[in-house]
This record gives sequence, structure tokens and C-alpha cells, in this order.
Amino acid sequence: MTKTIVLTGITTTGTPHLGNYVGAIRPAIAASKDPSVAPFYFLADYHALIKCQEPERIRLSSLEIAATWLALGLDTSNAVFYRQSDIPEILELSWMLSCVASKGLLNRAHAYKAAVADNEQSGENDADKGITMGLFSYPILMAADILLFNVHKVPVGKDQIQHIEMARDIAGRFNHIYGEHFVIPEAVIDEHGATLAGLDGRKMSKSYNNTIPLFEPEKKLRKLINKIKTNSLEPGEPKDTEGCTLFSIYKSFATPAEVTAISQRYAEGIAWGEMKQVLFEHINEHITPARERYEALLNAPEHIEQQLQEGAEKARAISVPFMKELRKAVGISRIFP
Ligand code: TRP
Repeated sequence: MTKTIVLTGITTTGTPHLGNYVGAIRPAIAASKDPSVAPFYFLADYHALIKCQEPERIRLSSLEIAATWLALGLDTSNAVFYRQSDIPEILELSWMLSCVASKGLLNRAHAYKAAVADNEQSGENDADKGITMGLFSYPILMAADILLFNVHKVPVGKDQIQHIEMARDIAGRFNHIYGEHFVIPEAVIDEHGATLAGLDGRKMSKSYNNTIPLFEPEKKLRKLINKIKTNSLEPGEPKDTEGCTLFSIYKSFATPAEVTAISQRYAEGIAWGEMKQVLFEHINEHITPARERYEALLNAPEHIEQQLQEGAEKARAISVPFMKELRKAVGISRIFP
């Protein structure tokens, strides 16, 4: 059986929150147990440098993200779980790709264009003010992450589709010049809209500062859930589940039968205070076993490091020979023998 190679990178700049869990981590961990899939999951720490220049934050985030994925039961006997910076071939490939990617293609990248537009709007003379080469060539680094492992499918949010298109474009150019070396990857977009609402009702996101960290200790979790915005309907008044943040979060953690039961209580006018209690208990129960494993892992970072080293070894068993092939293809190799 040839397995489908699936790859995803997690930028190491933050602490995983419930939105990351529902939208990305939970489905990725489920996929790690699927024998027809060969998943590659990695900590994108070189990507983190593009937007974060606080070493301590990147260090801590890498630790928290790795501990989170392991605590949630990532199957590392099937998935290759590694740190980007442990695979030097990614940077090497990145340069080769830079030499075939057209600058015009990268000029059109959303993240770069948005930064230029910000400068223009603020009346800045230099449209590139404050924009690093890292931000500009971000899509090339991402293409290298993907192409190095001949990935078939890349699950992404809508904001990342353009990057996959660029990876396809760059792979096509390379193949055209040097022969068929790369698989052309496909983006897989989650259309089921597995985005979670945050404290203020907008999409849960670090940039909105409205997140609930996944493994927040019990007391803090309760406090945060109590902060979720609701409307001002009184206890006993029938309430709409549609557009209700408490309900939408509950739904992401509940079975269809539980959702039906809660909908009934909305119709009967459940008080917001009570619904918050229900939601807290539900989530807390769901995550407590993993939170215990998470805390144990944070206290034993050597186990986490061990897993990452094993992952890097598996990844390099592929990347080292492939890079050798690519070097040869472009004409960089020993003259003798
Ligand atoms: N850029 C992605 C993000 O911000 C993270 C990432 C880096 C990635 N390399 C990747 C995702 C390769 C998929 C494939 O979410």
C-alpha cells in the first residue's frame, strides 16, 4: 500500500489554544492513527523567526507545542514528528528553490503585499520599510518544507492556499529545468469550517487576544469561560443556539446527542451562568487526562527532546539522500569520484 504523505508545520510563536486544537491539532492527531496516511508534522521554528524576535518565547512555544501534541496521543510510530531546524536540508533546498522562483511571484504574496500596503497607507516613502527578507521569502521556505518530503497533501486554512500554489509553481519550474524530481503538492482545505469562536465571539485567534489556552489549569479555565460574551437575555427566556459563542464551543466538544440535549435547554431558557458552568465542566472533563500528561511531559523535557530527535532521524533518512540527488541534478557535486 502506498501511503498518502501529508505534511503540516506549526509556527512556534504561541501557546496552543482551543481553536488550534479543534481546527488543526485534533484532526492531525486522528490522521496520525490512519494507516493509509504517512504524516509529517513539524515545529516550524525557522518560520517563527520571521515574526518573533523574542528567543525565550520561541523556546517556550516549541516546548509547549511539542508537549501538547505528544500529550494528545500523537502516534509517533506512524507520524514523523520533528523540529524544522534539525533538518538542515530544508535550508539548503530553500536556496535552490530561491534560484528558480521568480521574484515577481513572491511580490504577489499576500503577507508581503499587506505589509507594503500598510506602509503606503501610513504615508511612508519606502514601501518596503521594516519588511525583512525573511518575510519576503517566507513562501520559499514553506515550499522547501513541503517539497523536500515529496508530500501529496497539505491540510491548510484558507490563508495558506496561496503558499501551496506558490510551492506548486516553484516545483513545476524546478522539474521543468532539472527533470522530474518533485511531487506537485495539493492543498486540502477544511471546508467544514472547524474554526472556533473566541471570548469576544470573533474567531479564536492569538492576534485578537481572545483565546482560551488548551491546557489552562482548571481554575483559570473556569475564569476564562466565565468571560465569554453573551447577550443579555434573562434566565427562563428562550435562547438561540445560532450565533451563540458558548453553544458553538460546546458543540465542538460534544456528541450529536449532547448537542440535541443542550439545544433543548436553550429553548427552555437555560441561564447564561448555568450554561457557562455546563461548558466548563464539559471541556474540563474532556481535556483533564491530556492535561495531566502535558504537565508530566513539561516536567520531563528530556522525553520530548528524545521524541524530536527520533523524528529528525526519520526525516533525515529521507532528506539527506534526496538532497544528494538534487545537488547532483543542479550540478553541485564532487568532481571525483
Ligand atoms: N506557514 C504556516 C502557518 O503559518 C506554517 C507552516 C510552515 C506550514 N511550513 C509549512 C504549513 C508547511 C504547512 C506546510 O500556519
